Amino acid sequence: MNWQKLSIAEGEEEFGEGLCCRRLTDKRGTLLHYKISSDSELRGLEAGCWLVVPISGNCELKDGIITVGDLWLGSGTDFDIRAQTGDTAELFALRLNKIDIPEKSQTISGAGRPFVDYPDPNDRPTQPVQVLSEGSVSVLRTRFSPDFCAAEHWHDFDTWYFILAGSMRFGEEGIYNAKDVRQVEGGFSYGPEDPGPEGVDFILVSVGGPVALHWSDLETPPNGSLTVV
Ligand SMILES: [Fe+2]
Repeated sequence: MNWQKLSIAEGEEEFGEGLCCRRLTDKRGTLLHYKISSDSELRGLEAGCWLVVPISGNCELKDGIITVGDLWLGSGTDFDIRAQTGDTAELFALRLNKIDIPEKSQTISGAGRPFVDYPDPNDRPTQPVQVLSEGSVSVLRTRFSPDFCAAEHWHDFDTWYFILAGSMRFGEEGIYNAKDVRQVEGGFSYGPEDPGPEGVDFILVSVGGPVALHWSDLETPPNGSLTVV
């Protein structure tokens, strides 16, 4: 299978003080889910390049607050976070295989960043995107309205989808709901992507290069990623 449907409830729980961690996969990357209770801390992840995606609550980092719609990208050993008083926060931490650790770990703020058109070279309709990161770790946030449907397609690189709100059916894979994560290998065709009645709000992570959208009826899928993961 070249895709994974990952739900929090299916991960095995490991408890720490004020922390609950679930390991959802180690295939094509390591995905952990953390639930951090009021005033509890998460200090350090394993070595490697990690992308952190908050999905509820507010957390304090040394240099500010991180919440839904923001990201953190950097060296796992630099990661140090505390849930705000009276709040419980949840986040996903994804270790990106074969990606160099950035020179500087950074918080990427989503607030105030505009949603812009995503031009399709074949002039097919698309939905606006918010560009959160470019380069070897390319990240977009997008919202599909309920009446939009993306026909079968493929991407160049391994892609991870973090559903923030709403729901979406991915072809034969079934329906993904808020807080589910999907991973698909680059170069494999799938779809259609069909949002539920309330639409869907999600973060799309392309590991290795830009999010490139290829329609399967126009370009034959290579059945393999451009990256070596
Ligand atoms: Fe896609």
